[in-house]
Amino acid sequence: MQDENVFVVTIDGPSGSGKGSLALNVARELGFHLLDSGAIYRLLALKALQQGIDLDDEQQVAPLAEELDIRFEAGDELSIPFLDNVDVSAELRQERTGDAASRVARHPLVRERLLSLQRGFVRPPGLVADGRDMGTVVFPDARFKFFLYASPEIRAQRRYKQLKNMGLSANIAQLQADIAERDERDQSRSVSPLVPAEDALVVESSLLDLAQVTELVLSHIRDK
Ligand code: C5P
Repeated sequence: MQDENVFVVTIDGPSGSGKGSLALNVARELGFHLLDSGAIYRLLALKALQQGIDLDDEQQVAPLAEELDIRFEAGDELSIPFLDNVDVSAELRQERTGDAASRVARHPLVRERLLSLQRGFVRPPGLVADGRDMGTVVFPDARFKFFLYASPEIRAQRRYKQLKNMGLSANIAQLQADIAERDERDQSRSVSPLVPAEDALVVESSLLDLAQVTELVLSHIRDK
């Protein structure tokens, strides 16, 4: 299924665990490509919101996954997401979009239709893929798998800082409630629930900063 010469590293974990920043650091350090799979679910959710579709109706959402017109362009710091040729960076990171993403992500047909799109990101010399099911479903043969954990309180604080830095408004109690709700939805869904792959290294990052987690992951990869 996967080109054995291409090195895949998966980083899964709940929202706000810091996996996005970690994946970016690891990809830069190794000179690998990056797949932010959450951004794909967010782009699909944006499309569904634009079309006024019922997010809980699998039959309405699944066709959108088939004809999704998205691309990522290299930006100064982060890559820029485009939906139907429109830069949607601002809308993509909003809590409303994340919440909608976790609703469309529950549908088995949607997940199935997004599989080949995600696997298409594998390119030499390698890929770092972050999400919820990268190590369990999308890239089960990945060379290295990590699962990043952090307590809900720490994750809410991190998300708060992230949103403030982007100039967006945020309320910490609301963020904590949203995180708890999203965790529950991601962990209890029938397909691809959020669980560590059996062969993943689970990293508890509540007491570590990003530089320390990056070093831990890179040293694990370099040791092998
Ligand atoms: O990681 P991010 O917060 O951008 O993901 C948004 C939502 O997309 C998650 O809450 C989750 O429900 C869904 N998702 C998923 N599988 C992935 C990545 C994201 O179900 N691989």
